[in-house]
Amino acid sequence: MSNFVPEQCFDVLIIGGGGAGLRAALTLRERGCHVAVVSKVFPTRSHTVSAQGGITAALGNIDEDHWHWHMFDTVKGSDYLGDQEAIEHLCSKGPEAVYDLERMGLPFSRLENGQIYQRPFGGQSKNFGKGGQATRTSAAADRTGHALLHTLFQQNMHHKTHFFHEWVAIDLLKNSDDAVVGAALLSLETGERLLVHAAAVVIATGGAGQIYASTTNAYINTGDGLGMVLRAGFPLQDMEMWQFHPTGLYGASSLISEGCRGEGGFLLNGQGERFMNRYAPKARDLASRDVVSRAIAIEVREGRGCGPNADHAHLQLQHLGAETICQKLPGIRELAMTFANVDPITDPIPVVPTCHYMMGGIPTNKFGQVLTTEAGQDQVVPGLFAIGECACVSVHGANRLGGNSLLDLIVFGKSTAEFILHELESKNAPIATTSLEQHQKLFERLDRWDSSQSGKHTVAEIRSGVQQVMQDDFGVFREESSMLEGIAKLKDLRQKLSSVALQDHSAVFNTARVEALELDNLLLVAEATAYSALERKESRGAHSRPDYPDRDDKNWLKHLLYFAPGNVGSRPVNQKPVMVEPFEPTARVY
Ligand code: FUM
Repeated sequence: MSNFVPEQCFDVLIIGGGGAGLRAALTLRERGCHVAVVSKVFPTRSHTVSAQGGITAALGNIDEDHWHWHMFDTVKGSDYLGDQEAIEHLCSKGPEAVYDLERMGLPFSRLENGQIYQRPFGGQSKNFGKGGQATRTSAAADRTGHALLHTLFQQNMHHKTHFFHEWVAIDLLKNSDDAVVGAALLSLETGERLLVHAAAVVIATGGAGQIYASTTNAYINTGDGLGMVLRAGFPLQDMEMWQFHPTGLYGASSLISEGCRGEGGFLLNGQGERFMNRYAPKARDLASRDVVSRAIAIEVREGRGCGPNADHAHLQLQHLGAETICQKLPGIRELAMTFANVDPITDPIPVVPTCHYMMGGIPTNKFGQVLTTEAGQDQVVPGLFAIGECACVSVHGANRLGGNSLLDLIVFGKSTAEFILHELESKNAPIATTSLEQHQKLFERLDRWDSSQSGKHTVAEIRSGVQQVMQDDFGVFREESSMLEGIAKLKDLRQKLSSVALQDHSAVFNTARVEALELDNLLLVAEATAYSALERKESRGAHSRPDYPDRDDKNWLKHLLYFAPGNVGSRPVNQKPVMVEPFEPTARVY
């Protein structure tokens, strides 16, 4: 085979065509930047499309509201692990970000007076927790992500963004100064290889929820960007922090939006009791997600679950009436009828906590610049940026509030693009001095799969093994003994991976090859999660350890940085917002 690989140059290469990638691309294109977006699927099939309940920002369309109140809720929701400078940026830029979307044509639901419709969501309060529930989440019925993604894609079409549709990124190209200057790509359609050089590379590959057996995440969410970052020698941050959404559809794992509870729905246990009264007397069903998920898990564990196996909860919506359900929650009704054979107008929906979101990811500052560490100091990785769910900026800390994910994509997508434009204009971008040998090395992973001939194990077997280990040993509750068992099983799976071979070596739409490439990333993300979870010896937000039941600010109010098994460091939490006073950690009660 010839070693020749075609090359192309762009100012900016964005890896990932979801909400964050498209928002960044749009700002860059509006300013004439030569930008390319690589997307594993056609961009409107990115996982952002499945976000349901809304985007949270203090518009104040229904009640008085302030971004500072939103900031308070987000810091508290994060169990104080969130970086306050980044959270301040997120919340203060929130209203402008939503109005930008409105101007682009996003078809938000409307109030009688024509303003954007907003609904209550979990963990959102007025007046720093003293004024009751806030109504802060803007929605397009229960298909907000769908509306948002299509709006951004249309705008990118209008501005002639260059797309590599159905291409995957394999690995990052670094120059001799360890700056990132491009990436190796593979076309799914033709099997072509391509090396893209760029002054800035933005990773926007979304989440990695496929490491769990039960997840609301799409099949494409395999942590590809995270794998690339680890293989390039840079760390991941807070990978122990995984959100379990309280209301995954029982048996199908699809998301049943928190918007259902925002509209007035509530949870019941097998005894018909509104059990959230016991766990969160004030906020009840609209407490933060970690609190509600744990409550359901405890009800089930203590024998008060619903159904013949007492293994789930019920979400009751009947009292909302057919009109509200059909107007505000049409997608939820369709999902419940299709996958659970239940019409929520007449019957409760069976739900169970399901892996939904990764709070950790690639560490960045608020400009989206990827960070590593040297001698205990943060170092910017030149040329590399990360935005969206794959990034850990960290605005969600140990627990994300509903509706803050879409906001994160939009706010940091835009501001990172603005920062890159500034860098390009000031010519701070890294110079691409790379060798042919480096270029060929980038395709080694692909070569390994392409040349694999016979093996004892299959990709599917290793993938489901990883998913089951994560589900069993790193779920809502984590204990040292089961985590150690889980780590031993992951080591075994890693060993088996070396004797997996592909049967299909064709070039055109070889999905077996893509699944093998994805498995490399899934296993890395699972290991990062497992070792980080074992390391953090406290309970904080979504990381709940019965063997260390309390939050321990003295020892653990810090981010964990994972490089490799046995190599987990830390960096401080940023508790210094620039415009307002910091929020000091206090007990978190809902
Ligand atoms: O429940 C939901 O609609 C999910 C929203 C989110 O994760 O932000």
